[in-house]
Amino acid sequence: MTATVPPHLEQRPLSESSAATRIVPITRDLLEPCWQLRLRALKDHPEAFGQPYDEAAALTPADILQTFDTFWDFGDNQVFGAVTGDGNVVGMTGVAGWNRAKMRHRMDIWGVYVAPEYRGRGISDRLLDAAIAHARRIDGVLQLHFQVVSSNHAALKSYERSGFVRWGRMPRADIIDGQALDNDFMVLMLDAPGDGMGIDPEGTFS
Ligand SMILES: CC(C)(COP(=O)(O)OP(=O)(O)OC[C@H]1O[C@@H](n2cnc3c(N)ncnc32)[C@H](O)[C@@H]1OP(=O)(O)O)[C@@H](O)C(=O)NCCC(=O)NCCS
Repeated sequence: MTATVPPHLEQRPLSESSAATRIVPITRDLLEPCWQLRLRALKDHPEAFGQPYDEAAALTPADILQTFDTFWDFGDNQVFGAVTGDGNVVGMTGVAGWNRAKMRHRMDIWGVYVAPEYRGRGISDRLLDAAIAHARRIDGVLQLHFQVVSSNHAALKSYERSGFVRWGRMPRADIIDGQALDNDFMVLMLDAPGDGMGIDPEGTFS
């Protein structure tokens, strides 16, 4: 069961500054710069990511390699990076599936981050394109899921451009330093984009 690519997900035109970076699967040789980017993401945006910075920063090189082998690049899971000409990783996103048979039709997008000096160039869109294309190639994957802080408009807009729709909101998903943050849930139905599953374009159930 392989979904076809709808017109709205065909290759996007690239701005000159965005075209200077390549979107590639993160392999072991890119793990070190990608891990440094991940640490920067966790430190600067604790509200956007589940893993605490202190936990990630305490990992040894062997732990990091194990994380890579058992999650980042395990089975159908993949991490994509935006890499500059000189090999610096300036953006990343992961896509991860589930082992249980009844959940193998869905995957999660995680860890989307673009370094501040590379933002506003459409790099997150291109990272998402790569993650979506990857999921489409996996037999049986029908939908991609994503969870985002409800006030993160840059991320929400990027996901909506890629065809994700909001289907729900968890109030007080996180409390950070006493501040409660809601989370929005998004889905991209690979076989029925847009209003699949009775979800209307406003992001509510019909
Ligand atoms: C969300 C994020 C991945 C978007 O990445 P991006 O590659 O900059 O995405 P875009 O190029 O589509 O730009 C996003 C918006 O930021 C605006 N922007 C422009 N220049 C910018 C800059 N220098 N810094 C920040 N945002 C800028 C863009 O205009 C765009 O708004 P628009 O859609 O109204 O035009 C990035 O902002 C980020 O890493 N944020 C912190 C981590 C995070 O929130 N991750 C998502 C986890 S759910």
